[in-house]
Amino acid sequence: VKNVVGREDGGVGLLGQRITVGGWVKTGRSSASVIFVELNDGSGPLNLQVVVDPNLEGASQVTLTGTCIVAEGVLKEPPTEELKVKQKVELHVEKFVHVGLVDSKTYPIAKTRLKLETLREHLHLRPRTNTISALARVRNALAFASHTFFNQHKFLYVHTPIITTSDCEGAGEMFQVTTLLNDAEKAKHETSDSSIVLPVPGESKPAEIAKPRKLIAGIPHKDDGKIDYTADFFARQAFLTVSGQLQVEGYACALGSVYTFGPTFRAENSHTTRHLAEFWMIEPEIAFADIEDDMNCAEDYIKFLCQWLLDHCFDDMEFLAKMYDKGAVERLRMVATTPFVRITYTEAVETLRKVKKKKFEKKVEWGIDLASEHERYLTEEIYKKPVIVYNYPKDIKAFYMRLNDDGKTVAAMDVLVPKVGELVGGSQREERLEVLVQRLKEMNLPQEPYEWYLDLRRYGTVKHAGFGLGFERMILFATGIENIRDVIPYPRYPGRADF
Ligand code: 4AD
Ligand code: MG
Repeated sequence: VKNVVGREDGGVGLLGQRITVGGWVKTGRSSASVIFVELNDGSGPLNLQVVVDPNLEGASQVTLTGTCIVAEGVLKEPPTEELKVKQKVELHVEKFVHVGLVDSKTYPIAKTRLKLETLREHLHLRPRTNTISALARVRNALAFASHTFFNQHKFLYVHTPIITTSDCEGAGEMFQVTTLLNDAEKAKHETSDSSIVLPVPGESKPAEIAKPRKLIAGIPHKDDGKIDYTADFFARQAFLTVSGQLQVEGYACALGSVYTFGPTFRAENSHTTRHLAEFWMIEPEIAFADIEDDMNCAEDYIKFLCQWLLDHCFDDMEFLAKMYDKGAVERLRMVATTPFVRITYTEAVETLRKVKKKKFEKKVEWGIDLASEHERYLTEEIYKKPVIVYNYPKDIKAFYMRLNDDGKTVAAMDVLVPKVGELVGGSQREERLEVLVQRLKEMNLPQEPYEWYLDLRRYGTVKHAGFGLGFERMILFATGIENIRDVIPYPRYPGRADF
């Protein structure tokens, strides 16, 4: 379809040609003499109008929304000038090569304009809709733009692990990774007393000498009531990563400018429109860089993404703007060209404390973690553009952030944007071994699991900085979609990991 109506000339150059197209029916209308079908194949927001003679074999079945057809035919001009305004060509079908029927009585998304909330019940079918397919293309464009930006700036893409023993943010919001015991292990467990120790996989030493593999829990199986036992697989407790930062720092401190881009996981019990349990993050890390370089990089990157959507995804952006947020395209233009505001945390707090018009749910005082209501007020009401807040109180930020000379704040920065609030969190990293060790102590974190990370300071330490951009939040910001659950194909949040 894209190669026909998606062409610059709307397909006029192909008039008279015999072509084959495949797609899914958006809508169909039939009369005694003719059947019209709007066909979309997901390549873009535009449909191809398909004209079918009702007497053609299989014709009666193709009007139902969701039907898949592959049709052979000739491209012709629409019969009237009025119709030509909408569509420059239409396909006159001569033969159906394939028809994938739908049962319209049970097809859950047969109706047009279902609420996004309703579509969330049908995650596997919702990409058939205009909105979710547009969002999938925007998401793809932003991923490609991210790789393009960082590669243009000679950043190296590093794959960091999903399974890790390190809690990067030190917040304890991690999903533990365990295995189900196999039948033999289970039998052994069920016949012995509960103090069984299983060998670590791959260790040939007897269990008493090898590090014990700890039994975690027995959970009743949902069908037959049998017990499934889970156990540690690794020699120590392992988790899904909350951020690739710590590991990517190792590569920055050897290769200079690097980034990682992958799924990250947070077991925070947040039921908001801005939080997911599984989300994607782009995390650049730059050696020889300080907090200001970090802010510059984040600002350039966000601007690049906005401009990229205007240049490469304009039709989808226009469609989404029309449907969900009239100002979305204008906002992209503004962000791509306007310098971001930069204020310290202390200035942000002072500014918010002067606000008389609005009463915040959470009182603004120096030392608080800014809430979404504060972040959005700064960007939507006061500055009306992205705001970078830097130098946060050390007590509300992670252990790895560089302590400022005042002893009270750290060289952290958050990029706040309208509609979303926090889009980016980053910092200059603490490169001084003694200070970092002290910070771990202050935050009651054990030093032993972070020894490898401290090595980066023991051996050839260097000033460095980086940030993480929440990929789904970027899509929310760009498109104006309200709920983060609609901008990732298969959202995971408290209570839901279906499909
Ligand atoms: O501010 P955060 O927690 O920072 C880090 O994880 C750092 N280690 C990043 C770094 O410096 N390399 O998370 C970064 C961004 C946030 O600004 C937000 O956009 C997004 O990740 N984010 C979430 N997005 C969706 N759902 C959640 N639960 C999120 N938590 C954070
Ligand atoms: Mg943050």
